Amino acid sequence: MTSATAIAHPNIALIKYWGKADETLSLPATGSLSMTLDVFPTRTTVTVDDTARDTLQLNGRAATEGELARVTKFLDLVRELAGDTRPAAVVSENTVPTGAGLASSASGFAALATAAAATYGLDLDTRDLSRLARRGSGSASRSIPGGVAIWHAGDDAASFSETVAAPPLAMVIATVDAGEKPISSREAMRRTIATSPFFPAWIPSTAASLELMVAACAAGDVTRIGELTESNALRMHAVIQGSEPPIRYLTAASTRVFDAVAGMRAHGLEAYATADAGPNVVVLTRPEDAAAVAATLTAEAGIAEPVIALPGPGAYLVDGSEALR
Ligand code: DP6
Repeated sequence: MTSATAIAHPNIALIKYWGKADETLSLPATGSLSMTLDVFPTRTTVTVDDTARDTLQLNGRAATEGELARVTKFLDLVRELAGDTRPAAVVSENTVPTGAGLASSASGFAALATAAAATYGLDLDTRDLSRLARRGSGSASRSIPGGVAIWHAGDDAASFSETVAAPPLAMVIATVDAGEKPISSREAMRRTIATSPFFPAWIPSTAASLELMVAACAAGDVTRIGELTESNALRMHAVIQGSEPPIRYLTAASTRVFDAVAGMRAHGLEAYATADAGPNVVVLTRPEDAAAVAATLTAEAGIAEPVIALPGPGAYLVDGSEALR
């Protein structure tokens, strides 16, 4: 095959990945667990080409040199595995609204890994594809399998992602700020490891929370899943804020959403907040409560258009002409 197209969706971690044990192999300091969303897919086509070097088009524009360099570095891994040196033309289309605060690197590298592996003739199962996607962006590993996925810490062979059984869940995305984040998560992770005195505590605390989370998922205990989600997110922001110079991703608007979510719980509506490396907040709830959570976010926290997401599919190959929904 000389051309392949893949679709992948973003994921939001319930137990966060923050910090690498190995930068080159993109091995995480701890395991993590996420829900892949059924909204905001990325579609990527990889075509082996006769040109002198790789090319990259993102949402209809030519990529910057920096963006291209990261993709070429990833394709080099694929080419090495395939024993093929030919360059490729990569065309990627992302449906995440600009500034929605959802990591496009997760869906982006999951789609790229899936399409590139097929184009270069690698026959990888979900486990090995998730290990490959991990090398592009850690969180992309979790967008390879569908639904709720655990990404294991460990060495190169052991650090893969797989789907775990979980009760029905929904997420409501509250965009509070569409601006660029002040510092990339990759850079912020480095600073956290180098300077935050709380980082050594983050590792065992997250490992313990992950174990409890896996048990809560297996037991179908949505309340416990939610409690662990919110506490792990706040711990991640605490360890980040402990960096020197400090990094603060959460803003006053983010805090208002956390307050609104606490208010929902006080009124018997089960909702739990989490946030990645940015000010936007994602609210975990039961599917049957998602509409009420969205309406309350608008009424109480002024969120204009909350987006409701259910668990989404893993990355998959498509006919290049299939439209993005
Ligand atoms: C806060 O996967 O984007 O979203 O591996 O350096 O590409 P790199 O980092 P990335 O980091 C995601 C951090 C997070 C938490 C999470 O998704 O688990």
